[in-house]
Amino acid sequence: ITLGLDLGTSGIKALLLDGDTTIATATAPLTVQRPAPGWSEQHPAEWWQATERCLDELAAKHPRALAAVLGIGLSGQMHGATLLGADDEVLRPCILWNDARSGAQCAELEAPAVHLRELTGNPAMAGFTAPKLLWMREHEPEVFARVAKVLLPKAWLRWKLSGEFIEEMSDASGTLWLDVARRCWSAELLAACGLTEAQMPRLVEGSEPAGQLRSEWVRRWGFDHTPVIAGGAGDNAAGAVGVGAVKAGDAFVSLGTSGVLWATTAGFAPAAHQGVHAFCHALPGLWHQMGVQLSAAASLAWWARTNGVNESQLLNELDRSQTSPASCWFMPYLSGDRTPHNDSEVRGGFMHVSADTGRADMTQAVLEGVAFAFRDARDALATAGTQLMDADLLGGGARSAQWSQILADVLGMPLHQIEGGEHGCALGAARLARTAAGGEARYAKSQRLRSFEPDARRLAFYNEAHHRWRTLYELARQVPP
Ligand code: XUL
Repeated sequence: ITLGLDLGTSGIKALLLDGDTTIATATAPLTVQRPAPGWSEQHPAEWWQATERCLDELAAKHPRALAAVLGIGLSGQMHGATLLGADDEVLRPCILWNDARSGAQCAELEAPAVHLRELTGNPAMAGFTAPKLLWMREHEPEVFARVAKVLLPKAWLRWKLSGEFIEEMSDASGTLWLDVARRCWSAELLAACGLTEAQMPRLVEGSEPAGQLRSEWVRRWGFDHTPVIAGGAGDNAAGAVGVGAVKAGDAFVSLGTSGVLWATTAGFAPAAHQGVHAFCHALPGLWHQMGVQLSAAASLAWWARTNGVNESQLLNELDRSQTSPASCWFMPYLSGDRTPHNDSEVRGGFMHVSADTGRADMTQAVLEGVAFAFRDARDALATAGTQLMDADLLGGGARSAQWSQILADVLGMPLHQIEGGEHGCALGAARLARTAAGGEARYAKSQRLRSFEPDARRLAFYNEAHHRWRTLYELARQVPP
């Protein structure tokens, strides 16, 4: 039995895995603080409280299964900057992956003297960790001067659990300090941010052992043996391990708050000019590409909130015959865009609204706008040589059959609803723990529940519609902030 712990943005999830069967899960919510427009922070102390709640619940309800745990795997929201001082004290709240304050610092990292794209294969994006540290150096120099360790969220959680400073490759890729092709820290990029390798955790692969649970916690939650802690994975790579996307060409579409198009690649395959994330996978000798949009299901949630109804009511109002694209357009850039535009300033909107446009039409435009942005991501990945044949569906938005069908039609490939997609990250973490604890390296594919095939007629009209929709970005970009 192994335990997966997923440190998400909206909560912590714990999952007990026996073989390939999920025996139990526990969750505890987290809140996000937004102290200024575009800022997004969380206090690590809250992560620990939520972790304690999950483990207390499992210990109360499933004491025997928890006692038998041999390995613990960690999955975490990526990119966040958790800063510790000389006595391991947290210096300020963690600045999260969806924080937009460091746009100006990205320009510094893109200066030719830094060689960012040569060394990492990735463009500077405000969500990534390195620009956050440059922002701190400029705006909070007294805090920056005290930084002894820079940790991603799950590395901090590992330190709480084990007392060790260790990180694995998939999450480390999102810092912009990793030499992604060689899977090691880049002294040159760290120096560009006024940092050294001594301030970084040691690196391992996600399936390798990376610490042991401290005896204090072994006693507190009643483990029979001291569990080994696996390297784990950033949440997207953990999701990939959870659904078995571990061979080149395996792909998934995650329709969560953010939208991710993931492709596993055999080698390091960057396309920085297209905003493609080219990162290490959590397994040795593998890499992946991602196209990321910041407001996928978040766009529908915003539209529902604006209308004072919930998402399912909006979806129920849609015209099910789908004989044409919506009569208006929607650009889902509510918090800017990563792939392909890498633009933290652009904002979204509706276009081509007329006197007889109704709410259902606008809802359809929202679903299509998000799907068109995924199509942009697919095209961006194609410039780096990735041709996708089909993909699994993950995330809350994928519960809508209609949205799934629109995505299949716009992407022009079959998409599969799968079993257990909602636990993907915690499941992947628990699978990595099994390998790290000496068990089999087995990452089976999830069972497919239903497939959405592209419809030839809709594929044709969406091809044409996407072509026209693409031109809107140039207009949106020119609107002054
Ligand atoms: C990926 C990214 C998000 C977060 C969400 O680059 O920023 O998917 O990992 O937790």
